[in-house]
Amino acid sequence: MIVLGIETSCDETAAALVTDARDIRASLVLSQLDQHRPYGGVVPEIAARAHLDHLDRLVGQALDEAGVALGELGAIAATGGPGLIGGVIVGVTFAKALALAHDRPFIAVNHLEGHALTCRLTDDVGFPYLLLLVSGGHCQLLVVEGVGRYARLGTTIDDAAGEAFDKVAKMLGLGFPGGPAVEAAAVGGDPARFDLPRPLHGRPGADFSFSGLKTAVRLAAEALPPGAFAARDLADLAASFQAAVGDVLVDRTANAIAEFRARHPQARHLVVAGGVAANAALRARLAALAAAHAMTLVAPPPRLCTDNAAMIAWAGLERLRLGLVDGLEFAPRPRWPLDPAAEAA
Ligand code: KG4
Ligand code: ZN
Repeated sequence: MIVLGIETSCDETAAALVTDARDIRASLVLSQLDQHRPYGGVVPEIAARAHLDHLDRLVGQALDEAGVALGELGAIAATGGPGLIGGVIVGVTFAKALALAHDRPFIAVNHLEGHALTCRLTDDVGFPYLLLLVSGGHCQLLVVEGVGRYARLGTTIDDAAGEAFDKVAKMLGLGFPGGPAVEAAAVGGDPARFDLPRPLHGRPGADFSFSGLKTAVRLAAEALPPGAFAARDLADLAASFQAAVGDVLVDRTANAIAEFRARHPQARHLVVAGGVAANAALRARLAALAAAHAMTLVAPPPRLCTDNAAMIAWAGLERLRLGLVDGLEFAPRPRWPLDPAAEAA
């Protein structure tokens, strides 16, 4: 069984083919970075047009690479939201047309579920597990009970973790996207030089806040000598910021572990997913946290943490196995919380 996955919810056009034997037969990601860079962020209209320009060719290329014909597909899965609605409409409409023309099932995948289930593509992880989902738009702690079954323990009350990385990168003149740039700048920096706040640290619960930290970085940067940042100052400030984010993630996740353990005493997996999970320093902090609680950290390889279509194909496969297919009347969703009981954030 092989499923085609299509991802167009942000600034990456992606197509992938994944089998139920967890074999990624093709996974192509076309970044639109160069088109958005002059604006310092993703421009929705440009993103939607770029998806439209490239998706057809990219899907063809993925099918060729995998040596699969459209008629052989078990299903066609596309990100149905949440995300920039113009791009989501492009991917969903394209997938529906292929499904209709080739008489294949269509599956609308929640982008966040794509991130959430990636660990089951890369590792032997059974339900339930505790998930720290850290991306550009989301920062949440969730109990993953099963496919389509999520209980949210905490979320950000202001910025997402990736958003904080992106904004700090902008302030420090490191460009866009910010996460990898801040991580690279922090190498060799002194994480203790700048005394930055750790919002909500030590407080009960599993919610996050990053807005105060972002402001503190701006004030610290403004207090440095005017002109271009000295390399040492830049490295120290990036390292201090990254350490503060690490402290916050570890503190909030520790509270979530306690809550998770109370519900599921036998469960052992802490999973991290989403673009920020590509950060090696943060992965190391979370691995240490997991070990301290006799848990195992599962972190997909960085290329499967940032946006890709293999995760959409895999989530499609998981849904297909349960008979969870969608009709062609499915309407793309700009907002789509994983836990319906929780407010979208
Ligand atoms: O999951 P993702 O690719 O897209 C969304 O669904 O949002 O996450 C993108 C976010 C961006 O904010 C980016 O700066 C951040 O993930 N990111 C990182 C790293 N790589 C990507 N943040 C910290 N360190 C990284 N190495
Ligand atoms: Zn994502």
